Amino acid sequence: MAGRKQLPVDASTAAKEHETHSGGFLDRVSALKDLFVRAFTDDNRSVEQNVRSLELFISYFIEERNRMVHRPPQFANRADFFNDFVGDRTNASPVALIGAGKMGSALLESWIGLGLQRELIVVVEPRPSKELIDTSDKYKLRLLPDLRQLAPAVSVLFLAIKPQDADSVLPYLSKFVGNTTLLVSIMAGKSIHVISTKIKRRAAVVRAMPNIAASIGRGVTAAVANDMVQQKHRDLAFGLLRATGPVEWIENEDLMDAVTAVSGSGPAYVFLLTEMLARAGAAAGLPDQLASKLARETVAGSGELLHRSALDAAALRKSVTSSGGTTAAALNVLMGAHGLEQLLTEAVAAATKRSRELAG
Ligand SMILES: NC(=O)c1ccc[n+]([C@@H]2O[C@H](COP(=O)([O-])OP(=O)(O)OC[C@H]3O[C@@H](n4cnc5c(N)ncnc54)[C@H](OP(=O)(O)O)[C@@H]3O)[C@@H](O)[C@H]2O)c1
Repeated sequence: MAGRKQLPVDASTAAKEHETHSGGFLDRVSALKDLFVRAFTDDNRSVEQNVRSLELFISYFIEERNRMVHRPPQFANRADFFNDFVGDRTNASPVALIGAGKMGSALLESWIGLGLQRELIVVVEPRPSKELIDTSDKYKLRLLPDLRQLAPAVSVLFLAIKPQDADSVLPYLSKFVGNTTLLVSIMAGKSIHVISTKIKRRAAVVRAMPNIAASIGRGVTAAVANDMVQQKHRDLAFGLLRATGPVEWIENEDLMDAVTAVSGSGPAYVFLLTEMLARAGAAAGLPDQLASKLARETVAGSGELLHRSALDAAALRKSVTSSGGTTAAALNVLMGAHGLEQLLTEAVAAATKRSRELAG
């Protein structure tokens, strides 16, 4: 009989193992519980929003647990929950979200879900969706149709407009930029240099690249800061971006093209993999619907396992591959010459090149 496969670490075992080392794990669970109770005792919240908060808290919790597993104990007690990062660092002037389309709305929902006070949010969006209007009404958010209505005192200008709108919006922003203002941009391809040049001010700028999974609070973001960004700005940007998933800081902005190619465009590759797995299943004789369902749930479940497990992808793959078995037979094809590695290397190189071209 083949040896037992190594299973991913489960949450309670990991928690118990690391409680003794960290000391702070239970405190953090208790703080999460307080946030959670606060969200659920607000009568104005809909069931959907409560479910969303629950999902966000659970993902925070799981990630915290994963981080505790790998983190040295001295970092374990840092109070780095959302409002510590954001609420305490805005000097009571608002975060202005400029552009609330798909990505801006996803961020806004996460900020509200994590308890950012409504006084600290102002949204500028010329053509708000019905959902955005409903959310603004419900939380009494300031929703402005035009930048000209924005009051000058803002702590953060958070740009979630399309890159093609940058030329018309950026020059107008200089009047909002003071010594302590932070500008965060998630515009694909627009460099910090381009942004600073167009606003004609030396400003603290963080350029970030999230991905579409931000819309369910499960994105990942890479971010880079210019030399005007102080620690307080960095914490503020981190807190706002972290609301939709983990944030990785990079030092070299040139890497943003490769980041875009891996994590910005990456969800599309995974969707394609799902489509192809379904088609391959149909080619192997499965009814189309069954093949689609099996492929979709397999990719979704594997992603979740990857998310929850302390093991990396290669270890998880090995844990489900018996020598001479069915999985090994498939992997021999996928990992052979001209296999998945070569294809993805070429795909990421093409996307990186295109990202550079689009940046001009
Ligand atoms: N979606 C993604 O997967 C993804 C991933 C990474 C990065 N990004 C970046 O995120 C940014 C937003 O993308 P998105 O998918 O959310 O696009 P989107 O849905 O088109 O949202 C952009 C929003 O900005 C609004 N806008 C235009 N001019 C404005 C102005 N003067 N003041 C305030 N708002 C204005 C647009 O309104 P109108 O509709 O009236 O033009 C639109 O609602 C882009 O720069 C993109 O590169 C997106």
